[in-house]
Amino acid sequence: MNRELKNFVADGVKNCKILVVGDVMLDKYYFGEVTRISPEAPVPINHVTKVKETLGGAANVAHNLARLGCQTSLIAQIGKENHGEVFLNKLKSYGVDGSKIFRADKPTTTKIRVISGHQQMLRLDFEDTAEIDGDAEKIFLENVFAEIEKVDAVIISDYGKGVCSEEICQKIICSCRQLKKIVTVDPKGDDWSKYNFANFITPNLKEFNAVLPKKISNVDAEIEKSARQIIKKFNLNGILVTRSAEGLTLVDGKKISHVKAHAQEVFDVSGAGDTVIAVFTLALAGGIDSTAAAFLANVAAGVVVAKVGTYAVSNDELLAALENFL
Ligand SMILES: Nc1ncnc2c1ncn2[C@@H]1O[C@H](COP(=O)(O)OP(=O)(O)OP(=O)(O)O)[C@@H](O)[C@H]1O
Ligand SMILES: [Mg+2]
Repeated sequence: MNRELKNFVADGVKNCKILVVGDVMLDKYYFGEVTRISPEAPVPINHVTKVKETLGGAANVAHNLARLGCQTSLIAQIGKENHGEVFLNKLKSYGVDGSKIFRADKPTTTKIRVISGHQQMLRLDFEDTAEIDGDAEKIFLENVFAEIEKVDAVIISDYGKGVCSEEICQKIICSCRQLKKIVTVDPKGDDWSKYNFANFITPNLKEFNAVLPKKISNVDAEIEKSARQIIKKFNLNGILVTRSAEGLTLVDGKKISHVKAHAQEVFDVSGAGDTVIAVFTLALAGGIDSTAAAFLANVAAGVVVAKVGTYAVSNDELLAALENFL
């Protein structure tokens, strides 16, 4: 299995084409120092020395794919303001095709953090989570349909910011099924009927619990049993539950696989879920079976949690991490 995975990462990924659809965010950080109080109002003045921008949500999933060498496109919704321009420039630097991104009459979901030394002083949020509808939804879907034909797989990355309406999710899933393309979903919320007939859903334990009649704990047997019920209820092929420090569990038809997380220094788990769905779907798109795909996703997540901030693992880093298992 490892030999096949190594060949896939080293060589196969660059032939894969994946479309990511979903909610995106711009994270902007102002780093500086406070040395005095403003003469205008009783507030500190932060003298900014460094500015950093990163992209989150579906854009982080796309970043993970592109950094591994996959041909990646992203369809999402951003605003017409400057934050939208910043978003597109950053996406371009990631090597992701954002040519079909929709510019809406609402703000780009943006979080601006002001940091003095190591202390966060203030966060400014810009967002409008109203669900997409009308002409915007129609144009959005037309762009998605034109792209689905060209790719091997589609990832729906739902962060509850308004793009993943029932109409959009169901039309994408239906089209993927007709065209025999793989479709996976990183879910949000307590109603998964909008993901009906997806191939795989990849919830974390909290997201999984949100759709269960009775809350379960982070235990193999409970996860297995609930996964079987949910697979049946929503007509899925399988579920990949991410379980933080416990690793992940794949239930795919009769196949069950509990993959332990690697004991290593953990700095920052944010974005690890994005890495899991990106790598899992990428491997499936490359013809790898779901058990090996889940194993590879767990290896990649292990690299990401050892880094500060959201991080996209490079092809070389993933190959190096895989070496430890040969
Ligand atoms: N503390 C940890 N130690 C080792 N591995 C971890 C740890 N936390 C997360 N991971 C790895 O990352 C994967 C995803 O983690 P998690 O279940 O926290 O996803 P998530 O909550 O969706 O993450 P996020 O939403 O922040 O991207 C896990 O399946 C595991 O492989
Ligand atoms: Mg997540």
